[in-house]
Amino acid sequence: MTGARAAALLAWYRAERRDLPWRGETDPYRVLVSEVMLQQTQAARVARHYPGFVARFPTAADLAAAPLAAVLAAWSGLGYNRRAQRLREACRAVVRDGWPHTADGLAALPGVGPYTAAAVACFAFGEQVAAADTNARRVLSRWRGEPLRGAALSTAAAAALTGDAGEWNQALMDLGATVCTARRPHCDRCPVAQWCAGPAAYDPPRPQGTFAGSNRQLRGALIRDLVAGPATAERIARSTGFAVDDVRAALAQLEADCMVEPGGGGEWRLAG
Ligand code: ADE
Repeated sequence: MTGARAAALLAWYRAERRDLPWRGETDPYRVLVSEVMLQQTQAARVARHYPGFVARFPTAADLAAAPLAAVLAAWSGLGYNRRAQRLREACRAVVRDGWPHTADGLAALPGVGPYTAAAVACFAFGEQVAAADTNARRVLSRWRGEPLRGAALSTAAAAALTGDAGEWNQALMDLGATVCTARRPHCDRCPVAQWCAGPAAYDPPRPQGTFAGSNRQLRGALIRDLVAGPATAERIARSTGFAVDDVRAALAQLEADCMVEPGGGGEWRLAG
């Protein structure tokens, strides 16, 4: 039964797969860039920003050597800027020590969690590992008829893996992104509906808090401001419309994250 389901999913994927700019990519640097972008940003938005980013920084060595301001300028529009800084750190580790070829080794790189490590290991190095992103988690949970997370998710994802891991993982992701969607799944056009317990089982991740007026929005605005050049907290408050005390608190947070540093004359700038 699960053999028939796997065959139906793979046949569907070969006919319907999304044409995304990182599809079929096996260069570990490019795969890592796309997967870090996809951690918290929708695929459609990543598809618009990824080509420009890898054109600007074609190799891990290029990104490792780039000033933070240039990296953040190219990252602009993707949000969660700390990911860009950690991606540069990961590239520095790779330039120093070479690429780890396994999910376990990749997971030791800065900013690379178990999902991203498994994705790079299977897409770039052909490791036969399951890489269950949120879309795949939803599909697997519905197949099983219970919400899966943690060790139960890893076990179910590994047990379901069929054929080439790279192709299998992307097939699950695409089914989850286009058919087995969170709120209104299209069971009527699902290639594997007959082998599924139905959509009820899935428990959605907690929604992110509202962005408007949030600390994350402030930090994003602040980084955009500093990409243009050094500035004082007062000037940033004026140009972003946030209260100066909030700007100072956000600057302190970003300094602790090594994203910004004090320059001369009360000005702040992006860290080197
Ligand atoms: N989400 C996370 N990784 C992805 C990938 N490689 N393709 C599509 N969506 C994804």
